[in-house]
Amino acid sequence: MKQNYSSIVILTGAGISAESGLSTFRSENGLWNHHRVEDVATIEAFQRNPEYVHEFYNELKPELLKAKPNPAHLAITKLQNEYPACVSIITQNVDTLHEKAKSHNIYHIHGQINQAVCLNCGQILETWGDVSTETVCPHCAVAGMMKPNIVFFGENLLFMDKVEKLLSTCDLFLSVGTSGVVFPAAAFVQTAKLYGAETFEFNLEKTSNNFYFDHHIFGKAGETLPKFVDDLLATKSGQL
Ligand code: OAD
Repeated sequence: MKQNYSSIVILTGAGISAESGLSTFRSENGLWNHHRVEDVATIEAFQRNPEYVHEFYNELKPELLKAKPNPAHLAITKLQNEYPACVSIITQNVDTLHEKAKSHNIYHIHGQINQAVCLNCGQILETWGDVSTETVCPHCAVAGMMKPNIVFFGENLLFMDKVEKLLSTCDLFLSVGTSGVVFPAAAFVQTAKLYGAETFEFNLEKTSNNFYFDHHIFGKAGETLPKFVDDLLATKSGQL
């Protein structure tokens, strides 16, 4: 670990929310072991059967609304508040646990469960309530055009302009709790590394992306990340 970083990017995935009680996608009990991606997470599925897709995301909402941030989310907030660098969070998670942990500079590249986007006017509706094929857009007043603001396979990621800039200018890149199998997020480490960032992976195990990581820190993010942040903060105050 270097002594000084000026721009830190943290990519988070479902594993960071696991200790908050939320399912990951590809573990034994993961969401994609109980539901077919082709039925609920592709743009074709939404075109074919929007009622079913709305229902799937509506049913996930209560659990995500109830969930509380864990020490890994809180460690990131601490880093943002106490380390003299720009610290940005690029999250693949559609939960709002970074917001609940009072973090800032959060980019939800895969969307948010508590939002719907109007396919007629492009405006976002914020709601933890149910959204359906009958929901009326509060901005353009057209009914039946709301889509969960979840990026489906086959759609563009959100905030990519900003993300590209962050990845090409950061000097420290942390990947926390993601399996690294969904692109383009899985290749963010490659971009950061090729532009000169030092790269760390926090996971229970090595992922398929490990080639581009300089360091691997194994264990639960709720344990490993707070320690890492404290060590980083100690370098700032000259304790290490
Ligand atoms: P995955 O379910 O693919 O991977 C979760 C990763 O977290 C695995 O590598 C686990 O080993 C790791 N993990 C689990 N518990 C952990 C813990 N306590 N501490 C640290 N690591 C832990 O989830 P993602 O990589 O986030 O897209 O999946 C990427 C995308 O695939 C999601 O954003 C989702 C899905 O299709 C959309 O919904 C648009």
